[in-house]
Amino acid sequence: MEIKKIISHAKEYGFIFPSSDIYEGLSAVYDYAHNGVELKNNIKNYWWKAMVDLHSNIVGIDSAIFMHPTTWKASGHVDAFNDPLIDNKDSKLRYRADSLVEEYCEKLDNKILKEISKAKKRFGKDFDQKKFIETNPKVSKLKKKVEKILNRLNTSLENSDLNDVRNLIIELEIACEKSGSKNWSDVKQFNLMFSTKLGATSGSMTEIFLRPETAQGIFVNFLNVQKTSRLRVPFGIAQVGKAFRNEIIARQFIFRMKEFEQMEMQFFVPPGTQKEWYKKWMNKRMEWHKSIGMGSENYRFKNHEKLAHYADAACDIEFKFPFGFRELEGIHSRTDFDLSNHERFSGKNLKYFDPKLEKNYIPYVVETSIGLDRIFLAVLSWSLREDKLNDGTTRKVLKFPVFLAPIKLAVLPLVKKDGLPQYAKKIFDDLKLSYSTQYDEKDAIGRRYRRQDAIGTPFCVTIDYTTLDDDTVTLRDRDHMKQERIPLASLENILNEKLNVRNWLRAN
Ligand code: GAP
Repeated sequence: MEIKKIISHAKEYGFIFPSSDIYEGLSAVYDYAHNGVELKNNIKNYWWKAMVDLHSNIVGIDSAIFMHPTTWKASGHVDAFNDPLIDNKDSKLRYRADSLVEEYCEKLDNKILKEISKAKKRFGKDFDQKKFIETNPKVSKLKKKVEKILNRLNTSLENSDLNDVRNLIIELEIACEKSGSKNWSDVKQFNLMFSTKLGATSGSMTEIFLRPETAQGIFVNFLNVQKTSRLRVPFGIAQVGKAFRNEIIARQFIFRMKEFEQMEMQFFVPPGTQKEWYKKWMNKRMEWHKSIGMGSENYRFKNHEKLAHYADAACDIEFKFPFGFRELEGIHSRTDFDLSNHERFSGKNLKYFDPKLEKNYIPYVVETSIGLDRIFLAVLSWSLREDKLNDGTTRKVLKFPVFLAPIKLAVLPLVKKDGLPQYAKKIFDDLKLSYSTQYDEKDAIGRRYRRQDAIGTPFCVTIDYTTLDDDTVTLRDRDHMKQERIPLASLENILNEKLNVRNWLRAN
């Protein structure tokens, strides 16, 4: 489904609004409405349960957004948390220079995919994709070109050779998408951290930063947590919280925001074991994603060619968003970079005494870091469908994995008279104690079903005249639109079986 349709559905059905909408919004900043908050909480809860509740050696923390400014010196963010930016002198539009080159390569990749799908059609069952890619002159030429460009981009960025990044853009004849102009400025590094001032008097104001990742709140508390939880390495600390980045290029809805939420876990391990734990967490996190039920084929790993300043290995779990495979989660082997630097900058001993090894050391860290808004977009975009119905009409339906659905149930009296609403309200008052439930008696029943489909409610409980006679209700399934008549007495058990998050957690 096109991203435009997803954005308008999210607004129309109370998931996401542009921030400060009445003032024409604020670029790359969004507000979550009721259904959005519920969905976000369900995702958060599923992550927390899988990471914290299911691991006796992982504990939680909720550290402050503001931190001592030296934190960001020690973490390397003051010096190295930059994006290379380039301006188009004619349109005055600003771009990420690396993204311009990567998007150019993506176009070449799409050409390769087109060639492959044409050949698949031509050769039918006998098609050998691997051999075709290796032997087809057009495809192998395109592949080599992409590799060459990306290698050069990575080398230039690693060597901080921003002139060469600009040269590459000019040589590839990349034009501004708005003006078509190829008149580019120099490439300059731009720090992504937002800063503000702290202090009571104008003379004593200190510049502090809004955290660009939640991880540093975990690092600076490493020994506090270790001592109070009495956990031994290897152990982890998990956190969900807001992070802020001055993303200049705001595109693709909530995929890249200035204010967003991260779900991060730092796992502290003995030095030398980090690669092993890195592999373990890569697999564990992939299993978690797949357990949600959005199709294994929609996920893939991508190794980082260019490592962040703190990592000795890193990869992304990518998801197939409406605009292609993109990063959903990062898994990083962060070495002892952060803790060592915090020890150096703070002058405090951050070493851990390992009773098994009988020695002191700074633990190494494997990090899993996922954007909550990003997985929200993955779930929303995967779930939104336009179904063609047998009667020729269409319905908009959000086929959320049921345990994530913001509203689990709707209780609907068939008509607004003859005691049906009273009966339905009694059921509603009982069910709302267990599930997020809506009561709706307005409009014809068909329209009410459509309204629930559009917000992704997996089950509707309908009370009709038969209910008054024999205490049975109908249970309508969102995906198949089938209705089953069941005794009211068995409703709670049936719903427990269908909605219990335990069924999904077992796959973790
Ligand atoms: N602590 C490591 C870290 O922050 P990252 O790869 O920069 O690593 C981790 O970010 C995750 O946070 C990403 O995989 C993505 O899901 C999410 N994320 C990063 N920047 C974001 C942004 N501007 N808007 C929304 N989500 C973002």
